[in-house]
Amino acid sequence: MLGCPACLRSEAKTVYNHVARSSGPVVQRRIDALGIGQRMQDLPEELWHESFRYYVKEDSTRRGGPNLRMIRLDPSKPSLTVTGYAFNKFVHPHADRFITVREAARLQGFPDDLEFMGSLTSMQQQVGNAVPVEMSSAIFSHLLANASKNGQSKKLNALSLFSGAGGLDIGAQRSKHDGHCIEVPLAIDNWKDACDTLSNYAGPRTTVRQQDISKIDDPSEYWRDATRLSRGPDVVFGGPPCQAFSQAGKQKALCDPRGELIFEFVRFVSDLSPSYFVMENVPNLASVDNGGLLKQIMRSMQDCGYNVSTGVLCAADYGTAQLRKRRVFVGCRGHLGSVGMPPITRCPSSNLYGLPGYRTVGDAFRGLPLVAEGGKREERSIRAAEAKPEEPALATAPDSA
Ligand SMILES: C[S@@+](CC[C@H](N)C(=O)[O-])C[C@H]1O[C@@H](n2cnc3c(N)ncnc32)[C@H](O)[C@@H]1O
Repeated sequence: MLGCPACLRSEAKTVYNHVARSSGPVVQRRIDALGIGQRMQDLPEELWHESFRYYVKEDSTRRGGPNLRMIRLDPSKPSLTVTGYAFNKFVHPHADRFITVREAARLQGFPDDLEFMGSLTSMQQQVGNAVPVEMSSAIFSHLLANASKNGQSKKLNALSLFSGAGGLDIGAQRSKHDGHCIEVPLAIDNWKDACDTLSNYAGPRTTVRQQDISKIDDPSEYWRDATRLSRGPDVVFGGPPCQAFSQAGKQKALCDPRGELIFEFVRFVSDLSPSYFVMENVPNLASVDNGGLLKQIMRSMQDCGYNVSTGVLCAADYGTAQLRKRRVFVGCRGHLGSVGMPPITRCPSSNLYGLPGYRTVGDAFRGLPLVAEGGKREERSIRAAEAKPEEPALATAPDSA
């Protein structure tokens, strides 16, 4: 069953963060028994987790919790949302183990040459926090179409706030339209590991500052000091933390200091007056306070002089192998018209609307070599050129496990 010579990779390429974790015997038995697309409830009852038995058997009205845990990914479909918890939940389509950090990064559209830094938990969180790269690129390409129409300069400089490991940043830098592009001279986040990841990847083209954004009193001065540019940024973008609005965070929203960071983003926009801004957050932000928070955010952005479009986008519609949804706000200074949401580039099945079908888990994992066992720091990267065969079943997917 191990890889055939045709599956050997030829180019010398390092694959970072592609290390398998071993599971305890009980969890391993569950993993072994899961078929493609199956979840905990599809396992024989004797393998159910104790708390799962409680949820399903004794209180069948309960939703969420352990019955959502553990699913063997279907290689012919996009994955469910990758979060920091996906690493105890998503089982590889054909290997009997949970997915690696690199596989999750592939599902988020991160390039293979971006190495996540920090502890395993930290790396998992950085991947799970990110905006899928292809979705980001579609948003910014659409923004550039407006910039091109309005005769803006060919290169727009952007300030990245709450940058994390850089999903949104990489998408911005990949975006293009009619010769227009975006550069990111400055990215700010207060998390050391994420800053290390991004600065290591971005190199000299981006200054990455580890800094609490709410402690920056004068954003314009901070920008000038960090970038040495006399002109302010053309674009400000970022994804303020969303735990306060997520289901898991119980929608504490504005009582939680993390909820206020959205208005820190607006403060930066107000101070810097860029031509454009892009802010992303979780889709259920709209349900906080019966829609009151969404209205408040829109009003505060409009009061700064922007035409604001907002919508919920699905990453699979833009070429990411994941059904992740994000709420996006795109602002455009009054005289520049309105940007709106980007047109979709994919659809659930090919030929519908003449677009290609969704990318799948199998597409995303294709070409990855066999994983390294272990998990020690020095074993985090492996060289594909060491004649490691591709993960067996991804070369030719069998019908089911
Ligand atoms: C949802 S994540 C952003 C993900 C990022 N947009 C991406 O695509 O990879 C939110 C980020 O905000 C950062 N953050 C939270 N509070 C902050 C603060 N007060 N100042 C600066 N960064 C902060 C977190 O460290 C985290 O990386």
